[in-house]
Amino acid sequence: MKKISLTGLQPTGIITLGNYIGSIGQMVEYQEKYDSYIFIADMHAITINQDPKILKENIKSLIALYLACGIDPEKNTIYIQSENPYVANISWLLECNTYYGELSRMTQFKDKSLKNKNFTSGLLTYPVLMAADILSMNADYVPVGLDQKQHVELARDIAERFNKKYKKIFVVPEPILKDSGTKITDLQDPTKKMSKSSENQKGVIKLLEDLNIIRKKIMSATTDSEMRIVYDMENKPGISNLINIYSSLTKKSIKEIEEEFKDSNYGNFKSKVADVVVDTISKIQERYYEILNNEEYLNKILDEGKKKNIEVSKKIYEEMIECIGLGR
Ligand code: AMP
Ligand code: TRP
Repeated sequence: MKKISLTGLQPTGIITLGNYIGSIGQMVEYQEKYDSYIFIADMHAITINQDPKILKENIKSLIALYLACGIDPEKNTIYIQSENPYVANISWLLECNTYYGELSRMTQFKDKSLKNKNFTSGLLTYPVLMAADILSMNADYVPVGLDQKQHVELARDIAERFNKKYKKIFVVPEPILKDSGTKITDLQDPTKKMSKSSENQKGVIKLLEDLNIIRKKIMSATTDSEMRIVYDMENKPGISNLINIYSSLTKKSIKEIEEEFKDSNYGNFKSKVADVVVDTISKIQERYYEILNNEEYLNKILDEGKKKNIEVSKKIYEEMIECIGLGR
C-alpha cells in the first residue's frame, strides 16, 4: 500500500513563479509516489482577520490554480478543511493533550503575536488544528516549508503522547522539507528569495499576472556588467537565477543552456527566458479560467474529497472519543 502524504495550503490567492517551480513541481512528483491529500486550510486563514468575500474567492481560485498547474484530481484527494466538522472537534480533543507552554514557544506564534498585540486565541492553538489535519487522515508524510516544520514536529509529539496515554490510534507523521528544490530569487534583487510579500513587486512574477507585464519584468531583471551566460550564483546571481528558471521550465541542464547561449547576449537570452515563462504561464492561465468557469467539475472534485476526508476522520474521532471516555 502507498504511504500517505498530506499538505495544507492557505488561501492567500497569490502564487509566484517561485512557488510554482519550488513547490508545485514537488507536489506533482509526490502525486506519483504517495497517496496524496491536498487541502485548503481556510480555518487556519481566519486566525488573522479576513474579508469574507475575498476569502471565499481565494479558496476557489487556489484550487483552480493548483489544478491548472498540474495537480491531478485522479491522483490527489482535494478538499476544503472547513467542510469537515470532525477536524475542529479532533483539534479540541488534542488541545486537551497539548501544553500551553508548548504552544507559546512556537516560533510562528511568537513572531505573529509580537507583531499584533491584539491576537486571537486561534493564533495560539493554530498548530493543534494543524495536528488535527494531519493525524485525522493518518498521514505518513507532511511536505511543508521550513517555517512549518516545527508545527509538524509538535504534531508528532502530540501523536506519541496520545498513543501512549490512551491507545495507539495515530500514525506518527514525518515532515518532508519542501524547500530543498531550486530556489528562485527576486528579479530585482537576485540575492533574495522571490516572495509574494516582497515590497518591490517588480522582482516577483505572479501566475495570474498580465503576460505583457511578466515579459517586461524579465526583460528588466537585474544582471551584471559581464556579457557571459554562465552559471555562477555567487558572482552572477541575476543571470544564474534566469538560468535556473529556464532550466526548470524547459528541463534542460545548466550545461546545455550555457552551450545554447554561448554566442548570445543578455538581451537575447532574457527574451528567450521570457518566451518560455510566458508560454508556461499562459497555458496555466488558460486552464485556470476554464476550470474556474466549470462549476460542475470543481464541485465534483471537492465533493469526492470531502466524502473521503469525512469518512477517514470520523473513524479517528470515534476512536478518540471512545478511548478518552467521552459520551455515553
Ligand atoms: P510561501 O509562499 O512563501 O509560503 O512558500 C510556499 C512554498 O513554496 C515554500 O515552502 C517553498 O517550497 C516554495 N517557494 C516559495 N517561494 C519560493 C522561491 N522563491 N523559490 C523556490 N520555492 C519557493
Ligand atoms: N499552516 C500551514 C501553512 O501556513 C498550512 C497547513 C494547515 C498545513 N494544516 C496543515 C500544512 C497540515 C501541512 C499539514 O503553510
